[in-house]
Amino acid sequence: MRVGLVGWRGMVGSVLMNRMEAEGDFALIDPVCFTTSSVGADGPTLGGKATGKLLDAKDIAALASMDAIISCQGGDYTTEIYPKLREAGYTGYWIDAASTLRMKDNAVIILDPVNNAVIDSALKSGIKDYVGGNCTVSLMLMACQGLFAAGLVEWMTSMTYQAASGAGAQNMRELLAQMGTAHACVSSLLSDPASAILEIDRKVAEELRSSAFPTKNFGVPLAGSLIPWIDKDLGNGQSKEEWKGQVETNKILGNTTSIIPVDGICVRISAMRCHSQALTIKLTKDVPIAEIETMLAAANEWVKVIPNEREASIYGLSPAAVTGTLTVPIGRLRKINLEPSAPGRFLTAFTCGDQLLWGAAEPLRRMLRILLA
Ligand code: HSE
Repeated sequence: MRVGLVGWRGMVGSVLMNRMEAEGDFALIDPVCFTTSSVGADGPTLGGKATGKLLDAKDIAALASMDAIISCQGGDYTTEIYPKLREAGYTGYWIDAASTLRMKDNAVIILDPVNNAVIDSALKSGIKDYVGGNCTVSLMLMACQGLFAAGLVEWMTSMTYQAASGAGAQNMRELLAQMGTAHACVSSLLSDPASAILEIDRKVAEELRSSAFPTKNFGVPLAGSLIPWIDKDLGNGQSKEEWKGQVETNKILGNTTSIIPVDGICVRISAMRCHSQALTIKLTKDVPIAEIETMLAAANEWVKVIPNEREASIYGLSPAAVTGTLTVPIGRLRKINLEPSAPGRFLTAFTCGDQLLWGAAEPLRRMLRILLA
């Protein structure tokens, strides 16, 4: 299978290349690298295979000669190239990390540990477009698969704590620049144990609000603060990121007639690349916590149930603990008494996952594996 790779040098693309090398995927394909900036330069060596010269990512004929194309190039590229490619008669597979095509009828959102059956039936019916989901949604589903599979979710709220990486590589750099700037303005006071904390705090607040604070990418301070809005304003009080929660969850699960409501507030915080979420779930019936834990833990090989205890939670259920791994921990599992008339039906949970792995790159390479099987 000749597989065209577009956007392989970017952040998601680089994570994808690393994962494909680690899993030996390149041994099974003939990788061809495309570029928007250095056509004709030597391509990378991937999994020990030389990839030849870089081809032009806007050359429709070259793209159309692939059996499958994986794009991590971003939404603008998909918007420009995908329609031209299909118009030119390309009948191969299009596997994409961007959101552009996600909600189209002829596209499937891929998260195979959760929706293998949806993917299988799409393949049988000749669907050729397979798109990675929103990172927050994919991570929530990896964590909560056991509850959805058992039909236990009546509705869910997801209050998110999303990392800088979801906004892009430049934003991760800016977060660190902000942290450094905030520290630098008080470093001499900090080194004096007798200095007054309120004086330190006043200086940091002044720095955060100063026009010199580095905010070109985020627009506002993230370090020492947070940003309670992610993506576009849909004009109805909801952000686009919040809208995705329900539509993508239900599309991934293949729910067409009976929709499970999912909504909440999406917030950017100063983590690097792990998105966390605090969930409140109304269960369709009262199930004991021990059974819920067993169900969650058995759903897939990456989810990990963290006991609802202080030590286990602070050490095992955080961006610092999870970053760079495929493990998706879920914990803080507890019944809360929101409606006395529905005892045992309200569950809290907290989950955390690497948004560049399950949230972006991993479903793409697994889709390729499904095609190769
Ligand atoms: N939209 C997500 C975020 C990342 O801004 O964190 C990609 O799904």
